[in-house]
Parts: sequence; structure tokens; C-alpha cells
Amino acid sequence: MSQTATEPQVKERRVKKFMVYRWNPETPETKPYMQTYEVDLNACGPMVLDALIKIKNEIDPTLTFRRSCREGICGSCAMNIGGSNTLACLCKIDTNLSKPVKIYPLPHMYVIKDLVPDMNNFYQQYKSIQPYLQRKNEGSFGSKQLLQSVDDRKKLDGLYECILCACCSTSCPSYWWNSDRYLGPAVLMQAYRWVIDSRDEATEQRLDRLRDPFSVYRCHTIMNCTKTCPKHLNPGRAIGELKKLLSGWAKKEEAELKGSA
Ligand code: SF4
Ligand code: SF4
Ligand code: FES
Repeated sequence: MSQTATEPQVKERRVKKFMVYRWNPETPETKPYMQTYEVDLNACGPMVLDALIKIKNEIDPTLTFRRSCREGICGSCAMNIGGSNTLACLCKIDTNLSKPVKIYPLPHMYVIKDLVPDMNNFYQQYKSIQPYLQRKNEGSFGSKQLLQSVDDRKKLDGLYECILCACCSTSCPSYWWNSDRYLGPAVLMQAYRWVIDSRDEATEQRLDRLRDPFSVYRCHTIMNCTKTCPKHLNPGRAIGELKKLLSGWAKKEEAELKGSA
């Protein structure tokens, strides 16, 4: 029978399976397991985060994960999807229905619940590099603007955009085994960001804090970090630049502009 213009079109369901890591601290005797959910892609947004939100709203409200901005800015939806660390909100669902999507929390992190990793150590490490502008004369802060040339400002490009999602650090084998003492690529890239800022005057103290066998030198240039960064940044290169400064092979350039305006 032919379809008339008034008959609603019934779309065939496109069912995709999502296999999601589950673990509940309230029942610690239950080991972690994978739970499979079926989602009709015709009734779901295009990203993995859309599917997770749909599962939570319509199938299983106990599924637990972090998310906020849903546009790659807050960094909270970082997880391991299909074997790679990435942001669920920027990760398109593979529309091949024969392959389930496997979703785990970020690897080698303590798990608080389901897809929520414990970020405390990561944030403590970030705090340890003192991620803020420091001047010899604290009085130079105030109502005036600190000068920075256009070229000096450009040196921060590719560094300041980091959203601290930890995808890179938790893809780094050195960080897996030494996360108590090795700072990892995300934090080291931010350490470098403050070291090379032309307005910052605590360069030597910043470098001195990194002079031990573990903080930086556990990086063996494996570059998993750079491959996985969902913001297309290059923490591996930043660590290389930091090592050059630490070894004295390179020196921080003089600021093109000094003082305030
Ligand atoms: S380059 Fe260094 S920080 Fe990046 S994954 Fe390799 S060892 Fe880890
Ligand atoms: S460098 Fe990239 S992967 Fe690493 S924390 Fe920053 S945004 Fe995330
Ligand atoms: S929800 Fe903010 S980065 Fe994904």
C-alpha cells in the first residue's frame, strides 16, 4: 500500500548497544561489572554524552557520570570511550550498529562511582605548581595592567586552552605507575605555561620545584598524551620545552615589554 502525505512516517529503530562500567561504593562486595544499555539512535543526539544522558533520564537513573557544559569547555565528562580517553560531549557515536560502544572511567584512577574518577590527586598536583601570576614586587598588581607584547602573548597559545580534563595524564603509562610523584602531562604543561609567561617573575623558583628525579623526568616521550588530547594540544612538546629549560639548554627569553600601563 502506498503511503499518503498525511500518514506519519514511522522511522525504523536504529538500536545501538552501550556497554558501561558500573561500580557502586555502597555495595563494595559487588565487583565492578559492565552493564549493557540499548539506545535508539533515531531518538538520541549524536554524541556519546547524549546517549549517557538519555540512558540516565529514561532507562537507569542510577548511572553516574560527570558533565556540565556539553561543549568541550568544562572538562568534566572525560572518560575512556572505545579504548581512548576523550570527552563524551565531543565524541560522536559510531553509527555502526553491530559494534557496541564500551565506556570506562579514566584509566588507573580511583573510582568514586561508575564513570566518576577521584580527581583529588590531580588537583593537588595542579595546586603544587602554583598556577597563577607571581611578581617580585606584589605591589605591581593592582589597578594597572601588566604589559605583554603581542609576540610574548602568542607564546601562551596552545597552553592556556587546556581544560584540565586529565585525558592526557591518565593515558600516560608513566603517570599510571608514578602518579604519587610524577606530575603528568596536564600539570606539567601548565607548569610550563607559567614558566614562559613574560609577566611572571618566579621562573627560577618554579623550575627549582621541578628539579627532582620524578616530577618531570618520568616522562619518556611516549606521546600518548598528545595523541589523546581532545582539545588537540601538545603536552608532550611542552614537557620537552620544560626539560630544555631545566637542563639549561634553553633560557627563558627577556620580556619584550616590562612594567604596567
Ligand atoms: S610524552 Fe611523557 S607525559 Fe606524554 S604520555 Fe609520554 S611519558 Fe607520558
Ligand atoms: S592537555 Fe588536553 S588532554 Fe590534557 S588536560 Fe589539557 S585539555 Fe585535557
Ligand atoms: S560536558 Fe563539559 S567538557 Fe564535556
